[in-house]
Formats: sequence, C-alpha cells, structure tokens
Amino acid sequence: EKELLESSKKAAGYKAVDDYLSDGLRVGIGSGSTIKYVVDRIKEKGLNVVCVPTSFQSTQLIVDAGLTLSDLSRTPSLDITIDGADEVDPDFNIIKGGGGCQLQEKVVAYASKQLVIVADYTKDVKHLGENWKKGIPIEVIPMAYVPVMKKLESMSLTPVLRMAVNKAGPVVSDNGNFIIDAKFQPPLSNIPQLAIDIKMIPGVVETGLFINMAKKVYFGQKDGSTTSR
Ligand code: A5P
Repeated sequence: EKELLESSKKAAGYKAVDDYLSDGLRVGIGSGSTIKYVVDRIKEKGLNVVCVPTSFQSTQLIVDAGLTLSDLSRTPSLDITIDGADEVDPDFNIIKGGGGCQLQEKVVAYASKQLVIVADYTKDVKHLGENWKKGIPIEVIPMAYVPVMKKLESMSLTPVLRMAVNKAGPVVSDNGNFIIDAKFQPPLSNIPQLAIDIKMIPGVVETGLFINMAKKVYFGQKDGSTTSR
C-alpha cells in the first residue's frame, strides 16, 4: 500500500510537469511529499525554470536539485504553481496545510496565473473530511490562539492546537506562528463562506481552505496512471 501511494504521487507529479512546464517559466514550487516528484522531474528533464518556494522544505528541495531559486520580491508574478493537497472535492474546494505550509502556499498560488494540484488517489473525495480526519489547518499568531479556538468551537468546529513531535510545545510554522487543526463532521455546508468566516477571526493569518484557486488537479492512481479534472 505504501509503495502504491508513493508511485501514485510520482505519477501525478511527473504528469503535471510534462503537461505544464517548459523552459523560461516562472514556477511556484509547493510543499509536501508529492512535490518532491515535481522537483525530480524538472531536474530530470533539465528544464530551465525559475522556482519560487512555498516553505523551508520547498526551498531545500529546489536548492538540493540545483534549480534556480527566486522569491516573490524578485519574481512577483508567476506563470504557474504546482502544489499538493490533503483533499479535493468535486467543486475544487481544497484542504491544504497538513504540513503546516498553507500560508506561504496560498500567497505564492495567488501570485500565479494558475494553480495545478498533484495528489495521490486518497485525496480525491466527494466531501472534504472523507479521508482527511485532521481538520482544516489554520495558522494563527501565538497570542491569539485561545480566543481563536473558542471562536472556532462556537462555529461547530473542534479545534486542536498542533503539537510538536520530539519537543514539548506547539508546532511553530515557517512564519513563527501556531497551527490550529479545526476538525469537523463532514459534510461541511457552504465551504466558501466558512473559509471567509474563519479568515475574519482576528489573529487568524490564513486557513488551509483553498477556494476557487485551482483549475486543474492530477490524481495519481494505484497502477501508476493519472486521472485529472
Ligand atoms: C503542506 O502544508 C500542505 O499544504 C501540502 O501541500 C499538503 O499537505 C499535501 O502534502 P502531500 O503531498 O504530502 O500529501
């Protein structure tokens, strides 16, 4: 099962690069375990692209592969961003941020003409929360986390402060913030409105709900093929 999952991630990552990337493009590089294959493929094909990262991990991938690293100051408009996802529903509502990188991911995607998602078959769902049980990742400034959690509770969500592994204390994001995972009972109703309501809570920096951002999703399948929509 583990190998099937890995080969499906690889299939999705490779296919997106083959379909969308060519020399000279300015490309946002997402975060997570599937993106590794996007970077592998760019390197393998020797594509001459300018890469803008979405996290510390993404920066390391770009540097290790010897690709051209830029940032939004030097490269403020991108042709495309390729990124992973935790779940995608039929309306292209997406949960991201399982790895805590959703803030920079959303900023980079927003600076891009298009966002293409690459994911394994477990992420292809009818309703958000079908397979992904960890909830909606929400980045908050540290001093606000308790009132934000109280507010999320009043919205029928079950917030959990994401805790670090191998350290006593919370996960600290690449931006020095905390991550609250807002668990919920699927199906969610009116996801676009929920995304706005969460974002409007003072202290919330960004949510892992990506609404109306991706127009194309590749799902790697168990047999190494890909489906897209
Ligand atoms: C990182 O914080 C996330 O938004 C990832 O893009 C998402 O969790 C997908 O990761 P995988 O490719 O590891 O499933």
